[in-house]
Parts: sequence; C-alpha cells; structure tokens
Amino acid sequence: MNTSSGIGLSTMKPCRRILVSCKNSSLFGFPFLNSNYLITDNLSKLQPNLNDLPDSSNRVVGFTRTNTPNWRAFCLSGSDSGQSRFFSGCPLNTSNDRLVSNIANVASDVRNHSTSIESRVNQNSFEKIYVRGDLHVKPLLIETIEEAHKVLENVEKDKDYEARVEANDSLGVNRDNLNQRSDGSMVFRSTLKREVSEVEKEAWKLLRGAVVNYCGLPVGTVAAADPADKLPLNYDQVFIRDFVPSALAFLLNGEGEIVKNFLLHTLQLQSWEKTVDCHSPGQGLMPASFKVKAVPLEGRNGEFEDVLDPDFGESAIGRVAPVDSGLWWIILLRAYGKITGDYSLQERVDVQTGIRWILNLCLTDGFDMFPTLLVTDGSCMIDRRMGIHGHPLEIQSLFYSALRCSREMLTVNDSTKKLVAAINNRLSALSFHIREHYWVDMKKINEIYRYKTEEYSTEAINKFNIYPEQIPSWLVDWIPENGGYFIGNLQPAHMDFRFFTLGNLWAIISSLGTPTQNEGVVSLIEDKWDDLVSGMPLKICYPALEYEEWRVITGSDPKNTPWSYHNAGSWPTLLWQFTLACMKMGKPELASRALASAEKRLLVDQWPEYYDTRHGRFIGKQSRLYQTWTIAGYLTSKMLLENPEMASMLFWNEDYEILENCVCGLNKNGRRTKCARVASRSPSSMSEPLLPQIKETHC
Ligand code: GLC
Repeated sequence: MNTSSGIGLSTMKPCRRILVSCKNSSLFGFPFLNSNYLITDNLSKLQPNLNDLPDSSNRVVGFTRTNTPNWRAFCLSGSDSGQSRFFSGCPLNTSNDRLVSNIANVASDVRNHSTSIESRVNQNSFEKIYVRGDLHVKPLLIETIEEAHKVLENVEKDKDYEARVEANDSLGVNRDNLNQRSDGSMVFRSTLKREVSEVEKEAWKLLRGAVVNYCGLPVGTVAAADPADKLPLNYDQVFIRDFVPSALAFLLNGEGEIVKNFLLHTLQLQSWEKTVDCHSPGQGLMPASFKVKAVPLEGRNGEFEDVLDPDFGESAIGRVAPVDSGLWWIILLRAYGKITGDYSLQERVDVQTGIRWILNLCLTDGFDMFPTLLVTDGSCMIDRRMGIHGHPLEIQSLFYSALRCSREMLTVNDSTKKLVAAINNRLSALSFHIREHYWVDMKKINEIYRYKTEEYSTEAINKFNIYPEQIPSWLVDWIPENGGYFIGNLQPAHMDFRFFTLGNLWAIISSLGTPTQNEGVVSLIEDKWDDLVSGMPLKICYPALEYEEWRVITGSDPKNTPWSYHNAGSWPTLLWQFTLACMKMGKPELASRALASAEKRLLVDQWPEYYDTRHGRFIGKQSRLYQTWTIAGYLTSKMLLENPEMASMLFWNEDYEILENCVCGLNKNGRRTKCARVASRSPSSMSEPLLPQIKETHC
C-alpha cells in the first residue's frame, strides 16, 4: 500500500529569542510554566553561544507549538508500510515553503533509517503520527490521530491544569492543591505543605536555573551550572542518570511536564544515528547524556534551530558505555506514572517499544554464564576505570529494579508474552544469584576463610574458586557482628569486597535482597556511620584503593586518588537514595540525621559534586560546584521524608511470585543438574531461605 495522508502537528511561528509569553500550549500536552523569568533566564544561561553571535535581535529558537490548534496536512508518499506519517520540524518560520522543505528533509532522513521505524510501525496496526524534532533524533510517535487531536485540545481546555503548574511565587514553588483534571483524571498534589527554608529556596532557584529547553520546552537539567566554570567539559549536558533526582524533585512538587518531555525526548535519542569507530551501538541503548545545540539554519541568516546531540560514549572521557542510562530511564518512567497518576505515557506504543528495546538489549544471550549483566568498566555512575568491569553490583541492582518496573508497565499481548516470561525468569534468577553469592556478613566471611578451593563439580561449595587469601585485611576488622552487605563484584576467582553504596541502596529499594539482608545493610550503615555517612553523606564506595592497588586498578588515575571522587569520595547526591532505602526499612530517622548533617554544609560549600578525604572534610579537589544532582538530591530527600506515601510508591516489597518462579531450565535440556536454588544446601550464612518453599521438583 502506498497510501499517504497526514496531519502536521504544528503551526510554525517565528520566535525571537527573548520570549515574551510562555502561556501557549505545547506539543506534549503540557502548558508551559507561566514564568517568563524561567525561560529567559534559562536561555541566557544555557545558550551563551547565541549571545556571542552577531545580530542577536533577529535570532530564532525553534518552537513547535500553537496558540490555537492549527493543523496542516502533509503527505509522505512511498511508504511501504501503508501507514500515514506526519512530521513537524522544530525550526520555525512563518513561511509554509520552509516548513514543507523541513518536512521533506525529515521524510528522506526517515527513509534512510527506515528499518527501525518500520519495525516499530509494523508491530502495531495503529495509525501513527511521528513528530520530528530535528535531524539527529528519531521521530516521536503519538498513537492515533485522535490522540494527537486530544493532546492539543486538552491543552486548550485544561485551564485548571495550567493553573496547577503555574508558579505562584517568585521561586516557582508550586503550592496549588488542584487534584482533578478537567477530563476527570486525578493529578497529584504538590508535596510542599509548609514554608520552605532558605536553603531549600536557594536549591529550588538553582534547580530551575539548571533547566534546559529544547524547542521552547523544558527537557532536562544540566549536570552542573557553575557560572565560574570556564571548562565545563560535558557538565553542560543533560545526563540521564543525573536527571533522575531532578525529575523526582519536580514530580514531588507537582510538576510533571519536564519529566514527560525528558522521557519522550530521550526516547527519540535511543540508539539512532551515532556510531563509535564505525560501530553503531546496539538498538535500544540510551545515551549517557545529551546537549541542546543551537545550529544555524541553512540559508537563513541569523536564524537557528535547536538540535539534540546525544553522547553514547563516543565523546565521553574513556569512551565508557552508558549501560545504566536505559535502566534509569525505565525506573523514571515508572516513577512518573506512580507519582502523577498519568499512566497514559507508559502505555503509548512508542514508549512500550522503547522499554522493549532496552530490555532486549539487556536480555540478549551472550557469552556470560550468570543472570547478572556483564559490562565494561565505568558503565554506570562510576564512569571511569575503577575495577568495576564484569558484574558490578550497581548495574545488577538497577537492572533488577528496571526489570521490576518493566514487569509492571509492559502491556501483555501476544507479541510481548515471551519477553514478559523472560523478565520473570531473569528476576528470579538474578535475585537468587545476588542473594546467594554477593551477600557477605560475619558468618559468610568465616565460611570463605575456610573455603576449599579447586572444586570441580556442580556440587562445589566454593563455586567461584575464591582463594581465602583474598579476604582483605581491612574487612577482617571492619565487618560488624550484626548486619552485612552485598559485595561490589563477583567474577571467577574474584570477589570485590568493597562496599558500593548505590548498589546496596538499590538492592534494598528494589527488594533484590531478602528482608533480612536489607535490614542487615541498613544495620551495617548505622554501625559504620563514621566511615560511610558522617562528614558528608555518603561514600560512593568504601574503602579507597591505595598505593599499588590504586596504580594497578585505576591505571594511576589522578582524579581517582584515594578518598577522592569515585575512589571513596563522598557524594551528596546519594542522599535521596539513602532516604528512600531508610524509609522503606522503617528508619527515616537515619535519613533525617544524614540530611541534617548535609544541610549544614551544602549551601555554604556551593553544592559540590563530591567531597574528598576519609571523612569527607574537604570539597573535592576537582569537584564541580552547583552540581545539579547534589541540589536535586537534597530537595528530593527533603520531600520524600515529608511524604512517606509518595516514597512508598518508589520502592518495592518482596514479591513472592518472583521467588516462586523457579526457572532452572537446565534439566529441560536433559542435562543432569541440581537446582541451585533449593534453599541453601551450602553452609550459607542466611537465616532465611533465599526462595521460600521451593521444592526440588520445581527444577
Ligand atoms: C561524573 C560522574 C557521573 C555523572 C557525571 C555528570 O562523570 O561520575 O556519574 O553522571 O559526572 O554529573
């Protein structure tokens, strides 16, 4: 079929850089914050290159929105999918000619990349509308023409909603209490029920100042916005992982639009055009970060369009692969639905496809033997060489969390049922593996101390052939009588006994650990407060690699010297995750204590990215100031503590279905095997079964 018909979603208007009013509707169904201050401030801050150019009076920043829905139809012929497709461009002009030529460019570009698009199109029989932002990004997809109409109509109608997001004081802190949209659906309330402190006011101001716009819409926050920083490297970009606490702060404050825009725009960036040394990243990879660039419009003197430029690691220092980005994207998508009550976003066809792509990438068979994800060094928050290649805990905890999120969000139908089964199997296998092999406490270390080695058998107790000499001397004295933690990494003949905070916190939040293990981690943190929290919460890992170990494992990295940066520096952004974990474990007072100690220093110290020294006494030697996730992490912690019911939407309890889903498929192949998960035959240190009531016959 070669049918073509269509509807363009935007009326393009010329738009001066100095924006006068932002009360118009947006393509994404969200009105702008009614704050001129926000937009102009943001633009002047984040697009300084524009200011440096001559003829600033005539500059145009792309906009794709309307005052009144004014639809224009454009036809794309030659589509072999038989679907109608429609595009709108971000660059603006009143001239229809220009618009048509934009559309044509987009169309040809899309054909060049038709494989991915067609596969999306063909998966469903919906009529779809693609909304094209620029030449670097995938088309955005809205499921039906009706839906697109509705989006624009709703914006016009939804004055209540517009009022809700309107900033009602100079800080833009939302205190409206509307809780019902005009279409009847519920919206969330701002969680702020009290006057904010001076520290919080400053934090909000800075967070809003860090917002980045794309085509006039807020789409994220820069990693750091220190006006004195003359060499921001990539800290002027929106990092996927860094935006998560910003997103939560906005969501908890009743502001969903920036999060929705972020989710949709990053979805457009998902593994598209970029290549690294002539090799394209796998379909589904999410970039580590992206930048909004103002690019001169060809043949249009002094006019610019906004372009999203993603970095999949091809520019990043050390060319590290951003494995955690897709996992964070899924986690945030769920959080958006939970907090706003707007589940329509996760139900969209393009969003569902995005989830599937990420999962396919994670669940693809490779050479690895374990249910844990096999990754290269520096593939997560620690994005430099730190000896975390292989199966680092942080990735495993985020992977498990993302699987749990996906299980809730994926629409189950014939085309997804295999994937859903794979998710269930992986959840079960992963939790067993981590609970059994990553957990250490006094008892387990004592077992390792007496391990026999070189055991050749499926029955081996020391499965990974760990030589007891590996138990580091610091651990012998450090491990408390009560409590324990999940080790940083596990490979053949290698246990990385360092304590990595983020991975342990997410093991608690997602219930990757058993209830007893999760309690054990909190108990250890309490016990080791001076090492992990005091000074400045929290250590990214403990202890530091020193001397020869530092030289060999970091490659003599001068940024990761002992007790600095990733090598056991203290990172205030970890506060929000600590808060969530403490709240889940019924210990919010621990989080309050940590928050109170951070609060004393963060504002005075200008919101550093990290602190150095064993007890976090100095601002990190190379630490950025005005680091956005430090600011947002602080605000999010505050709001979570005040809103336990919101916090409870962001963590998971033990899921017995996962545990009962014994997936030891080996004997289906006729191979003789014993299910490893028959609750511990080995002299395990666990006082509770890893998987309750599992009968051997299940396997
Ligand atoms: C550093 C951190 C990384 C973060 C980035 C931007 O590279 O290690 O986790 O995303 O800075 O803040």
